[in-house]
Amino acid sequence: MLTNSRLASAALSTLLALTPLTTADPVSYCPADEICYQVGVPTSSAASGSGNIYLQLRAPTSYTWVALGTGSSMTGANMFVLYTSGSGSNVTISPRLGSGHVPPAYDSAADVELLDGSGVEAGVMTANVRCGSCASWAGGSMSLSGSSTDWIAAWRAGGALASDDVQASIERHDAHDSFTFDLAQAQVDSDANPYTGAASSEGDTAAGSGSGAGAAAGAPWYLREIPALEAAHGIIMAVVMVVMFPLGSLLMPVFGKWWLHGAWQAVAWLAMWAGFAIGIVLAQRTGINFTTHHTNLGTAVVALFGVQPALGYLHHMHYVRAQSRGVVSHVHVWYGRALMILGIVNGGLGLLLAGSRHALVVAYAVVAAVVFVAYLAGAAFGEVKKARSGGAVVNGRKQNGASMENGNGRERKVSA
Ligand code: HEM
Ligand code: HEM
Ligand SMILES: *[C@@H]1O[C@H](CO)[C@@H](O)[C@H](O)[C@H]1NC(C)=O
Repeated sequence: MLTNSRLASAALSTLLALTPLTTADPVSYCPADEICYQVGVPTSSAASGSGNIYLQLRAPTSYTWVALGTGSSMTGANMFVLYTSGSGSNVTISPRLGSGHVPPAYDSAADVELLDGSGVEAGVMTANVRCGSCASWAGGSMSLSGSSTDWIAAWRAGGALASDDVQASIERHDAHDSFTFDLAQAQVDSDANPYTGAASSEGDTAAGSGSGAGAAAGAPWYLREIPALEAAHGIIMAVVMVVMFPLGSLLMPVFGKWWLHGAWQAVAWLAMWAGFAIGIVLAQRTGINFTTHHTNLGTAVVALFGVQPALGYLHHMHYVRAQSRGVVSHVHVWYGRALMILGIVNGGLGLLLAGSRHALVVAYAVVAAVVFVAYLAGAAFGEVKKARSGGAVVNGRKQNGASMENGNGRERKVSA
């Protein structure tokens, strides 16, 4: 479905590009890896020197605010500040007027409208904006067909502002930039939102809640891949932490075959590293990096899991030699249990970070709880079985499969 709609929209844009009636597309500029701006000027506005122009601001939710402005410095600039809305699922665009190196004040005279296709999707804020006061405003003016128009930009990393208030207070930028756009190259045919349209409505219906092809259509490739990376990372990590590690741990008390447990956990462990690698790429592409609990705790959990196979092997060697659990055995068991819990908690943090739908978060919690209870029951069952048969040795071999190490001999100590 998704692929079909992508293909269809690719075919559609190729067609549009080949149509001689179509003039240029919006121009774009990305001052930082993950922050991109676009400007499209309807031919009618370019011809008359007044009227609407269409802006797009895109940035990961790891920024508390991101702004674009017309002008060459803060003073007199006509600014558009983007941040997440109160619900967190849409964005607020706040027009402000610069007056020097101080927080710009809300500009109630600005003719600004947030359009279709705006929102927060896969950790990326998008604002499609109609500006009817960009040719002239209280602080200055701009030629809508100028080949070298002045623009400024600024941004600040941090948590979501989550406000519907267009006057929300913002703190000073981490960085700023100034650049020019050749608006003669930015013309679009009609006086309408150029960032949605055929591709978008089509993508939305075909791909459901996916990353609407339209919303992503104007984005650079590294932002367009985010939803796929996010799904791959989330699914692999959730399967590894919530299903594979707990089930693999259950295999031990239930079947008592160390090699079955070892092989299963080795597969899960390798998958964990694959999911981690994707998580790193995702953290870079979204600009989230190590600014969140999810990425910090996740990295710690993955790194700590790194030595678990070695602990398992040491336990096995110990067991073969001593025929009983030793310190290393208890470390392997309890270290593993603690990390599994942290891994499951971290997956929940990941879902929250990604702004996932409520239902998905609940489903994750329910599955995690069910698997975890099953695991506890299995582990307890194993311990009870072991305690009952403690010391019951037939021909030098334990009879039931509930020992930590099946077939290797007696269990002297019976404790977890
Ligand atoms: C709380 C709000 C803000 C404060 C306190 C603030 C403060 C400052 C200060 C002190 C400087 C000069 C030092 C430096 O280079 O960092 C500056 C420069 C700059 N700021 Fe801001 N700023 C704010 C918001 C914004 C916004 C929303 C934009 C949006 C586009 C922006 C764009 C710029 C640019 C382009 C420069 C360099 C050009 C110039 O000096 O005007 N600032 N700002
Ligand atoms: C125990 C380890 C981990 C688990 C269980 C885990 C699980 C998850 C889950 C379930 C999601 C939600 C994905 C979705 O919406 O479908 C997620 C998101 C994410 N993960 Fe992890 N993860 C782990 C480690 C890491 C690490 C080590 C990093 C990077 C250093 C990382 C980076 C990310 C990022 C950046 C997101 C959010 C993407 C976005 O908001 O667009 N994760 N994770
Ligand atoms: C965000 O708000 C704008 C303006 O009201 C609307 O057109 C758009 O569809 C909204 N986006 C989402 C994801 O609800």
